[in-house]
This record gives sequence, structure tokens and C-alpha cells, in this order.
Amino acid sequence: MGERPEAQDTGCWNEDKLGVTGCKRCPELVESRNRIVDGVGPGDADLLFVGEAPGANEDDGGEPFVGRSGEVLDEHLRDVGLSRTDVRITNCVRCRPSENRDPSAKERSNCRPYLDREIAAVGPELVVALGKVPAEILLGRSVAVTAEAGEIEEIAVAGETRRVLLCLHPAATLYDPNQRDLFADTISTATEYAGDGGQSTLGEW
Ligand code: URA
Repeated sequence: MGERPEAQDTGCWNEDKLGVTGCKRCPELVESRNRIVDGVGPGDADLLFVGEAPGANEDDGGEPFVGRSGEVLDEHLRDVGLSRTDVRITNCVRCRPSENRDPSAKERSNCRPYLDREIAAVGPELVVALGKVPAEILLGRSVAVTAEAGEIEEIAVAGETRRVLLCLHPAATLYDPNQRDLFADTISTATEYAGDGGQSTLGEW
């Protein structure tokens, strides 16, 4: 488990809002974004879901996972008695890359201090990496996400050990419905780390 260097202070991190203001570290993303899309959900959530980067819907709405992938995530959370407001949801890169391209290595590393700060501030029981890109960013190695989905690995963030659960990206279930069971099983594993505070009131209805 490799220790990562302390996140450098970019001057754009707002500790109270667990968000970023006015970052201009990635010139192309400054051009392609309408806004910086910060994480949403409780600042002390047990579960922190981490995606890749905002798409067009998220760039419009200012919230991670509000498009089709978000619907899949919401549906699977509901199936295990959680709502999206019980968990925290964020992205490795907070600005929308144009044409939905993957964020470059430089963009990933520019945004990594913000992700580390969010993980350290929230202190989740479990970080859920939604897809190959977040898994590789978090673990610092190449990941075969279909083969490794459901596995948990430990990483060090700001001197603390954190558990990372590898999960398919929700969009994978849209491209290949056969992946739905694997996605559902992994979300079910995640709930084992959601304490009482993470229980949704939905189940009472
Ligand atoms: N895909 C992601 O990885 N993140 C989002 O916020 C939306 C779709």
C-alpha cells in the first residue's frame, strides 16, 4: 500500500463546502466546462462513490451522476434501501472534458489533490470506485474492472488507510445488460459498510 504525498494546497479548495472554486489548472477543461462539478451528499457519509468526470448532464446540472448513469446508480441504491442523499457522490475530475473524452493523465493528477481532500474530510467507511478510470486513479495501477469488481483494496490518503471497493461504471450495465447482476452484487457489498446513519427512510414507506 503506497503512501501518497500530502495534497498540495491549490488555493481553490473550500474546506467548508468540500468543493473547489475558480480552479484553472487544466486549460482545456476551463474551456470545455460550464462549471466545476463538486461532490454532493452528506459531508460525513459512510459511502463515497467516485466516478470519472462530469458529462454534459452533470455540467448542466452541477451535480455528479444526474444523467442515464445516475439513473442506474439511483435505481440500484434504491434496491438496497438507500437513496442518493444517504451517500456522497463525486468524481476524480471535476470539469467536463469535451466530447466525453477520458481525462488526460495531467488532468487526473491536477484534480487528485481535491479528491484526496474530499476523501480525508468525509472519512468514509468505504470508497466505491465506479469504473476503470476511478479505480486506476485511486489504486495507482492498471485495473481489469470486470474481473476485479467486488474486490476491496486498501489505500493511504492523507496518512489514513481507506478501503476502496472496485465496481463497474453504471453505464456498463446500459451497454451490456448482462453486467447488471455484477453491478447489483457490488452495490450490495457496499451496503455492508453503510452504518445506521446511512439507512434510508425510503424503506419505511
Ligand atoms: N459518469 C461519471 O463518471 N461521472 C458522472 O458524474 C457522470 C457520468
